[in-house]
Amino acid sequence: MIPIHRIRRRQWLGATALGAALSACKQNAPVADEGPRLLGATVRPYGERSEFETAKRLLANDRYLEESQTRTPLGESVGILTPSSLHYERHHSGVPRIDPAQHRLLIHGLVDRPLVFTVEDIRRLPSVSRIYFLECSGNSGSEWGARPAATAQQSHGLASCSEWTGVPLSLLLAEAGIQKSAQWLIAEGADACKMVRSLPVSKGMDDVLVAWGQNGEPLRPEQGYPLRLFVPGWEGNVNVKWLRRIEASDQPAMARDETSKYTDLMPDGTARIFTFIMEAKSLVTYPSGGDKLKPGFCEISGLAWSGRGLIRRVEVSTDAGRTWKDASLQEPRLPRAFTRFRLPWNWDGSEAQLQSRCTDETGYVQPSNQQLTVLRGLASTYHYNGIKAWKVAADGSVTHV
Ligand code: CO
Repeated sequence: MIPIHRIRRRQWLGATALGAALSACKQNAPVADEGPRLLGATVRPYGERSEFETAKRLLANDRYLEESQTRTPLGESVGILTPSSLHYERHHSGVPRIDPAQHRLLIHGLVDRPLVFTVEDIRRLPSVSRIYFLECSGNSGSEWGARPAATAQQSHGLASCSEWTGVPLSLLLAEAGIQKSAQWLIAEGADACKMVRSLPVSKGMDDVLVAWGQNGEPLRPEQGYPLRLFVPGWEGNVNVKWLRRIEASDQPAMARDETSKYTDLMPDGTARIFTFIMEAKSLVTYPSGGDKLKPGFCEISGLAWSGRGLIRRVEVSTDAGRTWKDASLQEPRLPRAFTRFRLPWNWDGSEAQLQSRCTDETGYVQPSNQQLTVLRGLASTYHYNGIKAWKVAADGSVTHV
């Protein structure tokens, strides 16, 4: 074997597209290096990113601030984690300012021992940290009926992925002595609208967390500080923020946000209710709407996730779905977390159409827009998980299809 340093650079890179791309990088390098300038005279107690980085959340619905949302810039995402400062938000009555010393969590209803926890009590209990995606069930709803948004952020930005730290809800329910007759848990937030959602006790005893940490620090106020419910793989709205009360009950609350909202109108006029699980979805994030490609090497990259567990496979097409190639999946792959996929591609400068299609561990394959529309009709904006396509024009501009 020849040591790499003895291979002449031209031989090593060869005539590949990657070689051409790297040569182009070399040509673009600055001639003189003046060395780094100091960022500032003092260190910063709480850090910020470089002033040269500009990725930011997109504020939507700003006419109705009490119903506000922000979207994660998925087109600029790297790896699988979303920085807390770029995590998407969805509020139904703004962000309350809560002093953790004043906050309480009540567990009551069909329990042997009703309990009131302080935030300090919760933080003292044995915790776990797990990486999970969180997604609003309205995410990518603009794709229904071929009304696609222009960028990955606009279409799919109501999804993010963080490491969440909290106490297993099963521990708190066992401590309270939850009774056999309890079938539902009714969770209530301390926001002005008193967000209420119901979830089956079986899920609550499985993998639900009462979370107080995100990405290595306490939750951000917009993520439910000081306590939130975290319900892995289930629609964002059930992950009640600013959590203050859990009632064990023999029936669901039938609250506003599980009857008038977050139900799915079907083609026959009926509505599906309590559709909790976010089905498998994937998206090419680079290149995506708004990007401009140069001919030659391009690493196609994107994200896939499933509320039912692991992503097993992601296929990518560059010819509008006529042929597909398996993308490589970044390890470790984690259940109910973003999975980053990558596929090297040599763009020859002709028109192309990029798509991704994922399969989860249950064998479920992400459907096409058409397949989904046949089943679901066009009356609901929730739970859209169809295949997303991006067009690459001959001039390199990338737009929605
Ligand atoms: Co739903």
